Amino acid sequence: FKLPAIDNEPMYSYAPSSVERQKLQAAVEEMRAQAPFEVPVVINGERIFTGKTEKQVNPSEHKQVLCTFHQADAALTQKAIDGALAARDRWEALPFNERAAVFLKAADLLSTKYRYKLMAATMLGQGKNIWQAEIDTAAELADFFRFNCKYAEEMYHQQPPKNAPGVWNRVEYRALDGFVYAVTPFNFTAIAGNLPGAPALMGNVVVWKPSLMAVYSNYLVFQLLEEAGLPAGVIQFIPGPAIEITETVLASPDFSSLHFTGSTQVFRTLWKNIANNIDNFKSYPRIVGETGGKNYHMLHPDLESSDLKHAALQTIRGAFEYQGQKCSATSRVYVPKALAAEYKSYLVQEHAKITQGPVHEFQHFSGPVISQVSFDKIKSYIDYAASAEDCEILAGGKYDDSVGYYVQPTVIATTNPKTKTMVEEIFGPVVTVYEYEGSFEETCKLIGETTEYALTGALFAHNRENIVMGTNLLRHTAGNFYVNDKSTGAVVGQQPFGGGRASGTNDKAGSLTLLTRFVSTRSIKENF
Ligand code: SER
Repeated sequence: FKLPAIDNEPMYSYAPSSVERQKLQAAVEEMRAQAPFEVPVVINGERIFTGKTEKQVNPSEHKQVLCTFHQADAALTQKAIDGALAARDRWEALPFNERAAVFLKAADLLSTKYRYKLMAATMLGQGKNIWQAEIDTAAELADFFRFNCKYAEEMYHQQPPKNAPGVWNRVEYRALDGFVYAVTPFNFTAIAGNLPGAPALMGNVVVWKPSLMAVYSNYLVFQLLEEAGLPAGVIQFIPGPAIEITETVLASPDFSSLHFTGSTQVFRTLWKNIANNIDNFKSYPRIVGETGGKNYHMLHPDLESSDLKHAALQTIRGAFEYQGQKCSATSRVYVPKALAAEYKSYLVQEHAKITQGPVHEFQHFSGPVISQVSFDKIKSYIDYAASAEDCEILAGGKYDDSVGYYVQPTVIATTNPKTKTMVEEIFGPVVTVYEYEGSFEETCKLIGETTEYALTGALFAHNRENIVMGTNLLRHTAGNFYVNDKSTGAVVGQQPFGGGRASGTNDKAGSLTLLTRFVSTRSIKENF
């Protein structure tokens, strides 16, 4: 068995008169007309309608309920764990190619049958515009499923280099000795699919708690995995209250791994709870997490006018695509004082081209933020900047939650590199620009010292020696580092993704490294 050739999923442009656009528009209109949908808990393949329901609303127009979902409680979480453990032996014992076939088929279903439906669910449920939904649900998720198969295949072929006479040595890449707990975020349907998907490919069983703000798209991902042949019980889909579900999970001796994407604070709390329960677990749990960021663009004084224009456009894209709700979003910029006026004027020019509105109108660069909680938090940072003496709002600064959760993309200029909006993660469409007067070297040091994060960052420089110097000086400030490009938009199979320090365990989504966290290797020596 050899895997088919693996490549990135081709993306469509959705030009106004294209067939793809018409199909997507039809899917969006149908979904808006048919909502709300009802989403159950799924345990061992059984749909369970618990009656304890919550709603996922459309953030573009929050009066519209996209789905009503049933929630699991402690007893159902325990049932999910028991069922997963019962499914484990058969799933793990399947030859790798049979497990890979499920994910390869899932990727094909994604790029064909489910493409528009999943995009529509991500647009209407998570507030993504067409292109952001395409990057996420069609391309990235299919890429995760396919490239994971390729990396896993490489791993399974890795064997000890030496055998002694009369001895056959080999290693077996077993699944973990228990179950994996996947806790997934609202902001990428692809990440939500990869967090349970990658461990399952390696033979693990998974209890999946989706974000309550992305239940509908996540349920579609679950359904397409079932349709692709995932056996019942291998992934259990249990939306519900985080604390109750997590307590039950961590009380299980068979808890063997946390696969998490979300906030730094929640990850730290989970880590502490895992530590507190360490005596109860059969194995030391593998803790894999991708968390917050305070991602930067650093501009070198050697930039020429055309470079500055390019840097400004990349900043607008990095900061404001998907309303700054990517963990990789650009949120602080360091520009040398001598170039600041020109750079800021380009930012303002680019900002003026942005339109904002409901994603189903199919025309806006900017949409809503995800929820009222998010809206209120982002608003508080804008209010801070509006009144702080060391800040000035250069563009944007308004917000309105009467119909949907709309926050204008906002550019703040500051004279203080440690002002609140330069150091705290906002997770919204706000970028702060600091004009530096110190040397380039000192400012690189400042970048590493002013926040605890190290997820993504970008250096804009013209000359090769400055690119080399900046790349070295900024070595530990980002797990994904870009030269003359924005801080967002890592592509599976091209730039493995993840950060260090408070941004995560840097196990790199879309890589062999990540998959190694979900296997427990057995060395076998056999004497002939
Ligand atoms: N992978 C995304 C990006 O690079 C973030 O999760 O923007």
